[in-house]
Amino acid sequence: MKHKKIIELLNEMTIEEKIGQMIQITGDIFLSDDTKSMLTGPLKDLHLSKEKIYHVGSVLNIVGAERVKKVQDTYLSNSRLKIPLLFMDDIINGYKIAFPIPIAQGCSWNTQAIKEMTEISSMESSIAGANVNFSPMVDLSRDARWGRVMESIGGEDPLLGEIYAKTMVKAYQGKKLSEIGKIASCVKHIAGYGAVEAGRDYNTVDMSEREFRQYYLPAYKSAIEAGAEMIMTSFNILNGIPSTVNKWLIQEVIRKELGFKGIIISDYNAIEETIAHGYSENEREAARNAINAGVDIDMMSSIYANHLKDLCLENQEIENKVNKSVLRILTLKNKLGLFENPYGNANEIKEKTYVMNATNLEKAKKLTQETFVLLKNNNHVLPLQKNRKIALIGPYIDNIGITGSWSMFSDRTKNDTILDMFKEKIGIQVLYAKGCEILRQEEINKILSADGLPMVHVENESQKEKEMIISAIQVAKKADVILLALGEHYRQSGEACSRSNIALPENQIELINELYKLSKPMILILFNGRPIELSSIEKKLDAILEVWFPGTTGAKAITEMLLGEENPSGKLTMSFPQNVGQCPVYYNHYNTGRPHHNNLRYVSRYQDIPTESFYPFGYGLSYCNFKYTELYLNKHIMNGNETITVTVKIENQSDYAGYEVVQLYIQDLYGSVVRPVKELKAFKKEYFRPHEIKYIHFDIDMHMLKFWNNKLEFIAENGEFKLFVGGDSEKVLEEKFELTY
Ligand code: GLC
Repeated sequence: MKHKKIIELLNEMTIEEKIGQMIQITGDIFLSDDTKSMLTGPLKDLHLSKEKIYHVGSVLNIVGAERVKKVQDTYLSNSRLKIPLLFMDDIINGYKIAFPIPIAQGCSWNTQAIKEMTEISSMESSIAGANVNFSPMVDLSRDARWGRVMESIGGEDPLLGEIYAKTMVKAYQGKKLSEIGKIASCVKHIAGYGAVEAGRDYNTVDMSEREFRQYYLPAYKSAIEAGAEMIMTSFNILNGIPSTVNKWLIQEVIRKELGFKGIIISDYNAIEETIAHGYSENEREAARNAINAGVDIDMMSSIYANHLKDLCLENQEIENKVNKSVLRILTLKNKLGLFENPYGNANEIKEKTYVMNATNLEKAKKLTQETFVLLKNNNHVLPLQKNRKIALIGPYIDNIGITGSWSMFSDRTKNDTILDMFKEKIGIQVLYAKGCEILRQEEINKILSADGLPMVHVENESQKEKEMIISAIQVAKKADVILLALGEHYRQSGEACSRSNIALPENQIELINELYKLSKPMILILFNGRPIELSSIEKKLDAILEVWFPGTTGAKAITEMLLGEENPSGKLTMSFPQNVGQCPVYYNHYNTGRPHHNNLRYVSRYQDIPTESFYPFGYGLSYCNFKYTELYLNKHIMNGNETITVTVKIENQSDYAGYEVVQLYIQDLYGSVVRPVKELKAFKKEYFRPHEIKYIHFDIDMHMLKFWNNKLEFIAENGEFKLFVGGDSEKVLEEKFELTY
């Protein structure tokens, strides 16, 4: 439809119909035969009338071609102007094919892999009728106590966040939104949500503007520059004002500075929550604050529905803002081609043939393998030798629940188990025992009650635990090597899943301790949504493979990797802390005036644990053995716009072929504000044949040296720099250079 027609449509709309476009509700009401009961049911708190329901502009988490078409038909049959609904979904890491959770995807350090995962997810979602995806989540995440680190594609690093944000937005949106396989991207959560105090979800965020611009803003900025059609405001306050009504954030930074012209949607009920925050005096003020800050869509609160009209009647300025919001919403619907075809790309036939097809499942498995991180491999206990008897032990061995907490649309029944995958392997002798539950019932009951479900009592739980350990020991005694599959429950990470204890559950540690007494090689496959405290068990393990929540093809991907059919190449995007007391811990920290290099008393350290992280940012082993032998620069003075070429010699000293992520970090030794001890500035994922030697080159330029200085200018300052190259952020070769311009 021509833009002129959109304007004409806008002018035809009543104020009620305009405000309706700015409201998003869950869409199941349009699937119910009894709308009335639904209005007194799930949506009762929204106090929405039947009439208002048929004015809403979008619905949340209705997906599936048939359902989308039914909802659209029901809605349009009651809509005067036949303005189609937008369907917006949380397809965070895949629709039917659940890919690894975002933090895992980020550990691939492979933008092509992330692009392909996003494109498959986007195609599946598009033919299932999704118009907008609430992804990517690019909140910089440094605190493992925060459950939503599992969603953070860039982890603790701003550069990874920028690169991945751009990659995903372009993969979702392509060149034309109405094309089959493309959906609008909604980047979230703006802003600074990953910095919630003490890692407690929805908690306070307070930081200097400089810190915000240096670390938290870059990934959002990158997504907006890549053309994201929508942004979602975050639950937290940012420097005293809730992001959702923060005029400096939305109007000054997002709209004016970054030139964002798309739609701004609140997070779930976040407009109403500005009252609880103690910012909006009441609902009417919440409506005023949100429309004045520039929120276009009110997700699942009744604030706009019940108060915006009065504000418009009272003040033409407000109605002008409403008109602008509605124009943005109609414009997106038009870009998606919904006025020509209200079903978008929803297509039941295609959905049946394309979704979860074998080609994509095979691709997904290969892509998933790039997300695994080998944390330990003493004496090359991995890959497993085939002629050995393997004891498969743990609650994740025979378990299809290996997708993350945002995989609600995937079909878990299609997930394989590690047990089945090993049994399919010819010549592999496996024995199995569950060994323990993921969690004790008390912990499971905490999750059940949080979900409003009845708690369950287990008779003689401790006796059952003992018996499970005994049978695990009996199985282990018959084997040459023990493969343990342990980790978090999938509902222990994700939204509202902050934890003050990030170690493995006690019952799992007990199993490890008992099996350790057998003095057999023990390998841990770790399922988790956050960095886990491993310091108390690491010494008892000969190898640790971090698999996160690997999704639909996880079991097959893991089995092949353990048997050496694939070689691990993932690298951590979040530091693993020594223990929870060290959170937040991250690699790009400042030096302090008393850096901890030795055990002197008066230095910045803890008395009871080492100061460095347990596993550093960028860390990950391979079956190969990569030796970084030489590092040199073609010059040591950078004059203004010149580049310096960095060369590093790397040798694969093994019989295996594999990938290495070569990382380049820079430290600005002094500046008008203190600078981090190192910052990731470039990386390359390189393939090495057995015993291959490669010279890898990087060009560094002045842009890489820019930072937000004490006057809030983004500039590079003359002076000395250190440059580090390595396979992680700690084990590096070092060089120096100077910038003079
Ligand atoms: C949730 C999450 C957000 C999600 C939205 C819709 O509360 O914070 O990430 O996209 O609501 O489900």
